[in-house]
Amino acid sequence: MSTKRNPSTPLSTNKQLLAWVEQTVALCQPDRVHWVDGSQEENDALCAELVAAGTYIKLNEKLWPGCYYAKSDPGDVARVEERTFICSKKKEDAGPTNYWADPEEMKTKLRGLYKGCMKGRTMYVLPFSMGPIGSPISQIGVELTDSAYVVTNMRIMTRMSSKVFELIDKGMFFVQCIHSVGAPLAPGQKDSTWPCNKEKYITHYPETREIWSFGSGYGGNALLGKKCFALRIASNMARDEGWLAEHMLILGVEDPKGNKTYVSAAFPSACGKTNFAMLIPPSNFKGWKVWTVGDDIAWIKPGKDGRLYAINPEAGFFGVAPGTSLKTNPNAIYSLQKNTIFTNVALTPDGGVWWEGMTDEAPAELTDWQGKKWTPAIAKETGAKAAHPNARFTAPASQCPTIDPAWENPEGVPISAFIFGGRRPTTMPLVFQSFNWSHGVYLGATMGSEMTAAAAGTIGQVRRDPMAMLPFCGYNVSDYFAHWLSMQKRGLKLPSIFHVNWFRKTADGKFMWPGYGDNMRVLKWIVDRVSGNAAAVETPIGFVPNYEDMEWAGLEFTKADFEQVMAFDKDAWANEVVSQEEFFFKLRDRLPKQLLNERQSLVNRL
Ligand code: OXD
Ligand code: MN
Repeated sequence: MSTKRNPSTPLSTNKQLLAWVEQTVALCQPDRVHWVDGSQEENDALCAELVAAGTYIKLNEKLWPGCYYAKSDPGDVARVEERTFICSKKKEDAGPTNYWADPEEMKTKLRGLYKGCMKGRTMYVLPFSMGPIGSPISQIGVELTDSAYVVTNMRIMTRMSSKVFELIDKGMFFVQCIHSVGAPLAPGQKDSTWPCNKEKYITHYPETREIWSFGSGYGGNALLGKKCFALRIASNMARDEGWLAEHMLILGVEDPKGNKTYVSAAFPSACGKTNFAMLIPPSNFKGWKVWTVGDDIAWIKPGKDGRLYAINPEAGFFGVAPGTSLKTNPNAIYSLQKNTIFTNVALTPDGGVWWEGMTDEAPAELTDWQGKKWTPAIAKETGAKAAHPNARFTAPASQCPTIDPAWENPEGVPISAFIFGGRRPTTMPLVFQSFNWSHGVYLGATMGSEMTAAAAGTIGQVRRDPMAMLPFCGYNVSDYFAHWLSMQKRGLKLPSIFHVNWFRKTADGKFMWPGYGDNMRVLKWIVDRVSGNAAAVETPIGFVPNYEDMEWAGLEFTKADFEQVMAFDKDAWANEVVSQEEFFFKLRDRLPKQLLNERQSLVNRL
């Protein structure tokens, strides 16, 4: 006989948690409180409620088992960087690259917005762990949210479990996260299928490790474990405790002898991180295999042996759907074929999903991400996209065919190399290695992506995105560089640092490098370098491979092609160092001297 749990009965006895829940109930005035246990039964019931409310459509169970579809409000489709605030006590501690607000003023404003904001709704008390429950690298949090969509997505993206309440009852510190879509319901008022508010605030309190979010139900604005906790708050924890919280994928390269080398790589958003994390080596690479540990975030701590060990704090992939196909990333496609939530993609008449780039040919008719009829002819005429360009899949990482057997190892995996890269049509060669740690930190600090023809007049202009953390570093980015530099003073066995560029173009705009699976050739040189099995030549910008040092079997890529993609352009580098200096000027108040010295040394070498 099954005894049904009453969801309003607290699942914790921790006084701090109970008091905080009570205060939030008094402020937000939800109709009900639901303590989340993370069970399958609970998830099924929530999904059924979301289907009944019209927020979810259950996809064809035969084609897409366990999958659901949601479409958002057209005004709530992405992270909102200009509404994202770091509310440190002192403005200087947020630094020149973050939006800042005084914590007390921001909380006063938000208390005004939160007042009665959950009326007519359920407030979920959602316990989650970032990283395997109980790992010494993991951290826990509780999100109070009025969105069942958030609960079902967080169940995929984090370890959402009542076991987290047990840790809290034992006294473990937890990050307090409050989230409301900001759409109270009057008695009898019909709900929208995607409730949200025009006014949005995504706010972080680094000193007290709190997150308060209002007005959005989408992605990083609402799934608070991801960018808000695992990057902005965790970067503060990492600085204080001597570790690193990074916007990095983690992958393992296995060679034919079975040796595995793990690397972690930072690329700005939309530079192919998920594809790189799930790379399939070219067929000529017999016996080589790439294993996936994570596609977006890495938490990295020194181990007892002085090496750096990384965990993926997430449990799922929140990937961009458009452009993902069996050709570009088969492992992502295999990951999302079941138990996945799709948001803002298009619906097929047989209860499936489609997005631009999924197949060469579009289906004859679709329902687009705004619920309108879409056909290739309509698209041709109006330019309407079937899926929103930021449409997402939320898929369990465990479903990835290349998921690394050690991906949930509580101790993490040992990192041998860091890779930085961006979209650079000019200047940056395919690959080079830093001379040492401090030079490598400089490469990360000055990394950028060039704007493309999308914006008139900006071609070739570089947006600096240091370590791909520009929108995600939860404190002054100059202090963040100092923190990276400080790692070398601690007697650690630090990874080698590399810079890559898959996006260099010829004068007539063609990519010089095939990318995708062929990035394995670069990856092989990197792992061979760290194991002492590959040669390199010293140049003014770093160590580079000779043509002969890379594996070319199966690819027609001549020595002349290689020279082109590796070319050192003196004029371009002269511009590069000026542009780097402009960026450093913005950060001048706290910029570590060591980075200025690195810049000066580069200028001298050039
Ligand atoms: C992401 C991002 O969604 O970086 O991962 O924007
Ligand atoms: Mn990201």
